[in-house]
Amino acid sequence: MIDLRSDTLTTPTESMRAAMARAEVGDDVYGEDPTVRALEERVAGLLGHEAALFTPTGSMANVLAVGSLVQPGQEVLCESSAHIARAELGAHAAVGGLTMRTWTHPRGQVDLDAIRTMFAPDMGPFFVRTAAISVENTHNFAGGAVLPLHDLRDLRELATGSGAGVHLDGARIWNAHVATGTPLAEYGAIADVAAVCLSKGLGAPVGSLLVGSADVVAAARVRRKRLGGGMRQVGILAAAGLHALDHHVERLADDHAHARLLAEACGVDPASVDTNIVVVPRSDAAAYVAAAEEAGVRIATVGPTTVRLVTHLDVSTADAEQAAAVLARL
Ligand SMILES: Cc1ncc(COP(=O)(O)O)c(C=O)c1O
Repeated sequence: MIDLRSDTLTTPTESMRAAMARAEVGDDVYGEDPTVRALEERVAGLLGHEAALFTPTGSMANVLAVGSLVQPGQEVLCESSAHIARAELGAHAAVGGLTMRTWTHPRGQVDLDAIRTMFAPDMGPFFVRTAAISVENTHNFAGGAVLPLHDLRDLRELATGSGAGVHLDGARIWNAHVATGTPLAEYGAIADVAAVCLSKGLGAPVGSLLVGSADVVAAARVRRKRLGGGMRQVGILAAAGLHALDHHVERLADDHAHARLLAEACGVDPASVDTNIVVVPRSDAAAYVAAAEEAGVRIATVGPTTVRLVTHLDVSTADAEQAAAVLARL
């Protein structure tokens, strides 16, 4: 079975497992796990921020990150199919006590006009105050679309001028970096706080990080513990992340090439595929998924008429070619 449902399906490679097995560890709640510290320092440096915090999931990193900018009763603006709006089970409202308003863009892009129109400054006891704007790069449900740096810089300027913060959901920022050659720190510079994941394209079994200022990270460390995310000898997992950063970033270009191959087979313009995710419109989505499964290719619906294919570390070129042949036939 060639499994294209998600890039979270990867299993750790033998060399990643070996790195995990020999990791030096300590109690991270005491700040004494050297491998976690090394990972946090490395990722903060890559994104050009002062500090970072290791979290078990991207969802927790996002909740802590958005919560560092938006107080209960305030709002965050984001694109309507953003992961924080659609796929975190309302955590930002349930845990963070905040509200959201959204703009819609078919490719998940920044829409400055819409943001300007929606933006609500602090008006005392009248409107909900816009405290932050969130962007997702790459954008999962918009088919792994990259957000261009010039748009992100314009957004940064608007946010700074309006007294709002910027949150970057960079779960797949590595894919944007590899697809465009933009240094990670340039993406980091547009955000006050960002969340990045190690367990998607990079192939680690677990792990995300929040990056931001030392103060933001210190406060997020307390809130992480409150949420039950204070982990102990977790260097075993951080070691997988360090290994992934050493070995699995540049190879994302292969995933992107495989995604374009699959797009072509499905009648989607390969030029519209920026990274490792292909969204295929199919009026017969459920039947198409069932037929693909029958033929040895596992794919998933992300809506009644939408199918999603995701390439990753465990999909070789031969697998991608075989899956493309099956999907072209269907
Ligand atoms: C863009 C984006 N952000 C955040 C997350 C949340 O990550 P996790 O599943 O680790 O909570 C995901 C998960 O797929 C994602 O695609």
